[in-house]
Amino acid sequence: MESFLIKGGVPLHGEVTISGSKNAALPIMAATLLTDEPCIIRGVPDLSDTRFMAQILQSLGAQVKFANGTLTIRAKKIRGYADYELVRKMRGSICIAGPLLARLHKARISLPGGCIIGARPINLHLKGFESLGAKIKIEGGYVDATAKKLVGSTMFLGGRAGSTVLGTANVMMAATLADGVTVIESAACEPEVVDLANFLNAMGAKISGAGGPTITISGVSKLHGAEHTVIPDRIETATFMIAAAATNGEVTIKNARADHLNAVIDKLNEAGVSIQNRGGNLLVRRGKKLRAADVTTLPYSGFPTDVQAQMMSLLALAPGISIITERIFESRFMHVSELARLGAEIEIEGPSAIVKGGRPLSGAPVMASDLRASAALVIAGLAAKGATQVNRIYHLDRGYEKMDAKLRKLGARIRRVEEK
Ligand code: EPZ
Repeated sequence: MESFLIKGGVPLHGEVTISGSKNAALPIMAATLLTDEPCIIRGVPDLSDTRFMAQILQSLGAQVKFANGTLTIRAKKIRGYADYELVRKMRGSICIAGPLLARLHKARISLPGGCIIGARPINLHLKGFESLGAKIKIEGGYVDATAKKLVGSTMFLGGRAGSTVLGTANVMMAATLADGVTVIESAACEPEVVDLANFLNAMGAKISGAGGPTITISGVSKLHGAEHTVIPDRIETATFMIAAAATNGEVTIKNARADHLNAVIDKLNEAGVSIQNRGGNLLVRRGKKLRAADVTTLPYSGFPTDVQAQMMSLLALAPGISIITERIFESRFMHVSELARLGAEIEIEGPSAIVKGGRPLSGAPVMASDLRASAALVIAGLAAKGATQVNRIYHLDRGYEKMDAKLRKLGARIRRVEEK
């Protein structure tokens, strides 16, 4: 297993180019199952998660070519069964269920199982499928969804923490080939949902309202092949913005969509970080000094839960008390005890973490527990005095393309080593 060895204390300087969005690419890859014609998807990040999804599509019978960020996928003849061994590796693979149900009127998918950041049930996905007329049976750890035909309907897809991103994506894809009109109320508004809707419309679907809480899908009888370029990864963008500020550096972020990051930019400004949008490139640097700030994670366009951990690393450096409240996932504070190993002062009170910021961090060996927690530990290691070893970086490779190389280009002293 690999680790990152970081010598901290170096302000990041220079330019970094953001990769395509993991969370947009995954459902778009699944959507290619809706047609037997070839699809070309550009700007796909080379990550273990996108490679897992490619394997899952191949296991269903699709031909997949992946080269230089471009995927060519043809799901000419497919089967409707995805086994546990593949699905358990990546929860996001649940979004093949909608396309299989739409195209084959049957889908047998392993239940994704628990996740370290929360229970993450799929009851809303299944509720949506049932509302389209599917019969759902759960047995032996598998979901069996079958339907003579799918019929459009109006449904409310809000849950315990508000809307569901992949639930909205899954039901939207299933409804593209249903008879009649489907209306999804309390739909997720994330940019990744909009990007998927744009791809589906390029395939001949009739979707309107994506990006808002009400999405309308008029079913069509067939979809065709299409070409699409995935949006930039807004979570990777936020991660590099925070790394620049945490190291007191000056970084220009290229291929970034500032309009997807309003809540993050607003909160960073509040914390004393200056962000200038220069023709689509974001110039990020710390202002006079960092300030404490309170953060609450919410569905889009609120502050993203996928940036909560990274923001905690920054606020650990800001003098004063910051309160970070996690409203989306019930156990997404695994990074707190690891940040404490670097000297951060953080207490957990129910859904909130109380950060007493301002104390300098010092390097130590730490353990990554999940994708975004590992990014937070890398940022803290870059800001800390001395050496930090971040273990289990396979978590990070799931969602960040060549992160260490990009950081080295910005002057960071970071290298990948074999874990002892
Ligand atoms: C997507 O997961 C992202 N993953 C997650 O990013 C992200 O954290 C999450 O959306 C929220 O923004 C991908 O896009 C691949 P949800 P998703 O369904 O769709 C509850 C990362 O770091 N819920 O919007 O699985 C659920 O438990 C990952 O890149 C139900 O109760 O998340 C959670 O509390 C981590 N029933 C809340 O809704 C359901 O049927 C939001 O989950 C579905 C969800």
